Amino acid sequence: MEQRVHHETLRLSIQNGLDAQKTALERNKLGQFATPTVLAREVLSYGLSLMPKGERVRFLDPAIGTGSFYSALREMIGRRPVEAAKGYEVDPHYGEPARDLWASSGLDMELSDFTQAQPPCDGFNLLICNPPYVRHHHLGADEKRRLQIVSKESAGVKLSGLAGLYCHFMALSHRWMSDDGVAGWLIPSEFMDVNYGRELKRYLLEEVTLQRIHRFDPNDVQFDDALVSSAVVWFKKSKPPAGHAVEFSYGGTHTAPAISRQIASIELANEAKWTRFPRQEIRAAIDTPILSDFFSIKRGIATGSNDFFILSREKIAELDLPMEFFRPILPSPRYLKSDEIQADDQGNPVLAQSLFLLNCSLPESEIKSKHRSLWRYLESGKEEMGSRYLCKSRPIWYKQEDRRPAPFVCTYMGRSDCATENPFRFLLNHSRAVVANAYLMLYPKPHVEAKLNGRPDVLRSVWKKLNNIRPESLMSEGRIYGGGLYKMEPKELARVCAQEISALLEF
Ligand SMILES: C[S@@+](CC[C@H](N)C(=O)[O-])C[C@H]1O[C@@H](n2cnc3c(N)ncnc32)[C@H](O)[C@@H]1O
Repeated sequence: MEQRVHHETLRLSIQNGLDAQKTALERNKLGQFATPTVLAREVLSYGLSLMPKGERVRFLDPAIGTGSFYSALREMIGRRPVEAAKGYEVDPHYGEPARDLWASSGLDMELSDFTQAQPPCDGFNLLICNPPYVRHHHLGADEKRRLQIVSKESAGVKLSGLAGLYCHFMALSHRWMSDDGVAGWLIPSEFMDVNYGRELKRYLLEEVTLQRIHRFDPNDVQFDDALVSSAVVWFKKSKPPAGHAVEFSYGGTHTAPAISRQIASIELANEAKWTRFPRQEIRAAIDTPILSDFFSIKRGIATGSNDFFILSREKIAELDLPMEFFRPILPSPRYLKSDEIQADDQGNPVLAQSLFLLNCSLPESEIKSKHRSLWRYLESGKEEMGSRYLCKSRPIWYKQEDRRPAPFVCTYMGRSDCATENPFRFLLNHSRAVVANAYLMLYPKPHVEAKLNGRPDVLRSVWKKLNNIRPESLMSEGRIYGGGLYKMEPKELARVCAQEISALLEF
C-alpha cells in the first residue's frame, strides 16, 4: 500500500508539472482536466462495489491522462485480482510520462486516439473515465461526421451535431465493455437537460441499466471550475429490468451525498430536464391542456438560400420566370407591420412587398427544353447552391419541402428585456402564403379544424388567445440566448399551456 500511495504522490507531481507546461487554452482544446485524487478514489471504490464479489477486474480508461483512476484502482483494489488494465491517451505530453510511471505495473498504455481504436474481442468489466469535455464547435466538420457514424455503429446512438466529444466517448465505449460490465463516467451534467443529450439519455434508459447519477453542487468549492457542473453517471451493460429505478444523488460528496432519491425509469423517460432530480418532485402528470393538443407545430421552410429561392414579383417579371413555379411566402417578421395577413382574391397576401418561393419538381432536362428562362436562372445559382448542405441533401436541389399554408404562424425568435414583454408574435394568416424558417407554423388538428370551418369569429378568437398567452409561459419553454434573445423550437411551443384555447373550443 505504501508503495502505491507513493506512486500517487509521484503521479500528482508529474501531473502538476505537465499541466504547468501548458496554457489553459491548450488544455481546453483536448479537455485536459485531471480528476482530483480524493474523487478518483471515491469513484473507483464505488465502481468496485458494483461488481460481483471476487470477479477479476478488466479495467479500461479511454482518456487516461497520467492515470488518476488507474492509480486509485491500485490503491482500492485490495486482494481482488486485476486481469487486465488498459488506457488510451492521445497527447504524448501526458501519455509518455504516464507510460514510464506505470511501466512495470501491468498497465497497457496506448498513446493514440481512442475514437479511432478497434474494440477488442474480450471486453472490459470496469470502465472508468473522465472524458475530454471538448465542445462540438471545436470538432471539425469531417471529424464530427465520422464520430456520428461510429457512435451510431457502436451503440445505435444517433448523436446530434451539437453533442460534445464526451457523448461520443460514451457511445463508442459500448463495444469495449463486456456484458454486465460496469461503467462510471465523470461528465458535464449539461446532457441531462439539453436537446443534444436526449439521445444519450435514451441510451442510458433503454440500452443499458442506469444505476446512479450523482451531481455535484455547483456552489460547492471543493473542486475547480472544470468540475463544478459535473455528474458521475453509473450503469451496467445489460438491458434494464422491468420497473427499474435509478438513484439520483446531489451535493455533499460522491460517497456521502447531501440528498439521494430513487426515480423510476419511466418517470425519467417522460422528463426532459433530469437535473430537477433529486431535489424536486416528479412533475405532476400534465392534465392542463397544451398547444400540441390543438395544433401540429412545424418549423417553416428551410429554403437553403432565401436570397436565391425567394423572389419579388418584380424580379420574377424582370427575369420572365413562369409564375406556375412560384407560391407566395411571407417576408421576414421585421417587415410585417400588421399581425393579420389579409388575402386578395387569388389568396396572395396583401402586403407592401409581394414575395414568392421558387419550387419546381420537374427534372432539369425538361426545364431546359420547356422553360428556358427558369433553366437559365437555375443555372446561374447551380454552382453555389449545389455546394450548400441543404440543397445537396435534396433529391432535386431546387425542390422545396411540401408545406400547406397555416392559418396561425408564430415568430421563431425575438427579443425581450423584461418578463412582461413578449418576444414572440402570433400572426393570423388568411392567405395561401407559406413561411420560411423564421416562423413556426401552427396547423389546427382535425377536431379543431372542424370547429374553425366557416367560423371566422372563432378563428379570430383563437388567434387572440394565442397572443394572450403569458410571456413567462412562452419564455420558460423557449430558450434564451445572450442579450435577451429568445428562440422557440416546435417541440417547445407544443408544450406551452393552452388553457384558454381549450376553454374557447369547448363551446
Ligand atoms: C478530462 S482528462 C482526464 C484525464 C484522466 N483520466 C483523469 O481523470 O485525470 C481527458 C484526457 O483525455 C485525453 N484525450 C483527449 N482526446 C482524446 C482521444 N481522442 N483519445 C484518447 N485520449 C484523449 C486528454 O489529452 C486528457 O488527458
